Formats: sequence, C-alpha cells, structure tokens
Amino acid sequence: MKNIVILISGRGSNMQAVVEAAAAEGWPARIAAVISNRADAAGLEFARAHGIPTAVVASKGYATRDAFDAALQLAIDGFEPDLVVLAGFLRILTAQLVDHYVGRMLNIHPSLLPSFPGLATHRQALAAGVKVHGASVHFVTADLDHGPIVAQSAVPVLADDTEETLALRVLEQEHLIYPRAIAWFVEGRLNLDKGITNLKDMT
Ligand code: GRF
Repeated sequence: MKNIVILISGRGSNMQAVVEAAAAEGWPARIAAVISNRADAAGLEFARAHGIPTAVVASKGYATRDAFDAALQLAIDGFEPDLVVLAGFLRILTAQLVDHYVGRMLNIHPSLLPSFPGLATHRQALAAGVKVHGASVHFVTADLDHGPIVAQSAVPVLADDTEETLALRVLEQEHLIYPRAIAWFVEGRLNLDKGITNLKDMT
C-alpha cells in the first residue's frame, strides 16, 4: 500500500478525480491526507465527506517562506507519504522542501510545458495565438513548472475560445492524465532516474 498525500489550495477537482480513480480502480494505495494552505479551500469538504484525513497549514500564519515550508513538510511527513501530489496548490515551494521530496512529488500544470509556466496559462495561450494548448504532469524540481514531464494532453484552441471555455477543455484532460500518471507511480512503473522520467511499459 502506498501512501499518497494531496496538497490543494481551492476547488480540488483534480484531487477529486484522483480520489475517485483510486477507489474505482482499486489502486494499491491510500489517500493518506489532503492538506490545504487555506482553511476555506472547497476541496477540503469533499475530502472530509470521503473520510480522508485533512489538515490546514495556513500560509498566512508564517512570517517567512522557510517557516511555512518547514511547517508544511512536518505536516506532510506526519502522513508518511510515498508520493506527494500537488493539485492546484498555489504556493511556490522552497528548494529545500522540493529537494526533500525529489522523485516523489508530482504537479499538474494547465499548459503544454515548457510553454506558459506560471499563472494565467489560458490567457497566455490565447495571447500567443497558439492553436493547441493542454496540460502537463511533471515531477517537481526547484525549477518552477519545469520539472521532468511525465504526461501531456493537448486540446485545440478554437477561434471563439475565451479563457473560461479553454480552461474547461483543458481541465477535462487534467482529470484524465493526472490519475493515470499517479496510477503509474503507484504501480511502480514510474520513477525519476538521474533527473529523467522513466516509465516502464508493462503491456
Ligand atoms: C488546475 O487547472 C491545475 O492544473 C492548476 O490549478 C487548477 C486547480 O484546479 N494547477 P482544481 O483545484 O484541481 O480544481
């Protein structure tokens, strides 16, 4: 049984997709906890309703990024994670924390990396006029939104797209590729090998 700790800041729809896939597909894993840096994150309700332990490490309560990350690391490690899943966790993490979880922390980013790191990715995509956009799952490294890529899914950008319509099309793909990538990790097929994504083909 692998322990998964999921970090959220808000809605938590990716967390929900992971929880539902884990249950439906009978992963040899347990969602050990959902941790939020905001007490009002809507996703916490879903976690509680599903009997998943929750914790809040409020980013506002710490004077420095280092102090917050130290408290966050303590909270995460209390659940003995094999894998830490960032699911809309809107905090930049210190290199110290990221190094602590290297090879066992994944993130989902709503763009086809390395295009459009950072925030407002759908706005960036529309402004650039790209014809395809999408989502990426990657291992987290100290290089923000630039860790080794695990999975990607592309969607078309349509002539009449707004940020909202494009975000929705990308989000549907996020909900498919994030559970898949996490299932690979849980099955022992996915790891980080000398900084490179290694995915074993079991078919
Ligand atoms: C998603 O688009 C994710 O890719 C990004 O933030 C959003 C979070 O949505 N990092 P949710 O909280 O998972 O619904």
